[in-house]
Amino acid sequence: MSAYKDGDPTTLGRLYGRSQGKPLRTGQQQLVETLLPQIAVPAEGAVTAERLFGADRPLHFEIGFGGGEHLAYRADLLPDHGFIGAEPFVNGVAQALAHVREGGLANVRLHHGDALEVLRRIPDRSLAMLYLLHPDPWPKNKHAKRRMMNDGPVALFADKLKPGGEFRFGTDHPVYLRHALMVMRRFADRFEWLVKGRASWENRPSGWPETRYERKARTVFGHEVWYFRFRRR
Ligand SMILES: C[S@@+](CC[C@H](N)C(=O)[O-])C[C@H]1O[C@@H](n2cnc3c(N)ncnc32)[C@H](O)[C@@H]1O
Repeated sequence: MSAYKDGDPTTLGRLYGRSQGKPLRTGQQQLVETLLPQIAVPAEGAVTAERLFGADRPLHFEIGFGGGEHLAYRADLLPDHGFIGAEPFVNGVAQALAHVREGGLANVRLHHGDALEVLRRIPDRSLAMLYLLHPDPWPKNKHAKRRMMNDGPVALFADKLKPGGEFRFGTDHPVYLRHALMVMRRFADRFEWLVKGRASWENRPSGWPETRYERKARTVFGHEVWYFRFRRR
């Protein structure tokens, strides 16, 4: 049975696994109750730079930001750009909120939930950059349709990026790697792979910080990590 609901190829059935881990500490709970409502993506309607940040500016979107380290790093690096992050795991949202508060990051907006729900509300050709780092692998064949890298979501990524915009994808999972490259090959008319030999995917590109998840994958589990940059044609 297809994981797509309602005939909409960008609505994946059960895309994410857990939405809560350990109970939040009191400080984290407070951040979720007080800071999140101030910087949450509006629940309905178009998601534009003007609406979120009061003026037009380059928009970046991170799908499944985990603990928010990469999102916070990028937002700190580019204070005049606007950053939107979506993450269904509340513990990750709480960690990202702590980064936003500690870094005084006025250019971040968060969505606690499914990234595709927000992405669909962004007007076409709006995003300067889109990040998908270590998406849940769903390694079993029978769950392949739950992977974020599939034709429906990737078509949506292509729609939402501006021509010349960049899609960054990283994974430490060999099954996902093969699957993702197969999908991206089908989108070769819309995405140019920015590749110059093995070094391009084996070495971390500059401005692409390591998250805690990735460090653990490398140092604890001994995984290789692969990095991909695609330019929207
Ligand atoms: C393996 S973690 C990687 C976290 C982070 N990107 C990193 O590299 O450290 C995958 C994340 O994707 C999130 N996720 C899964 N489905 C999602 C969806 N539909 N929208 C947004 N995030 C999603 C999960 O909750 C999880 O935090």
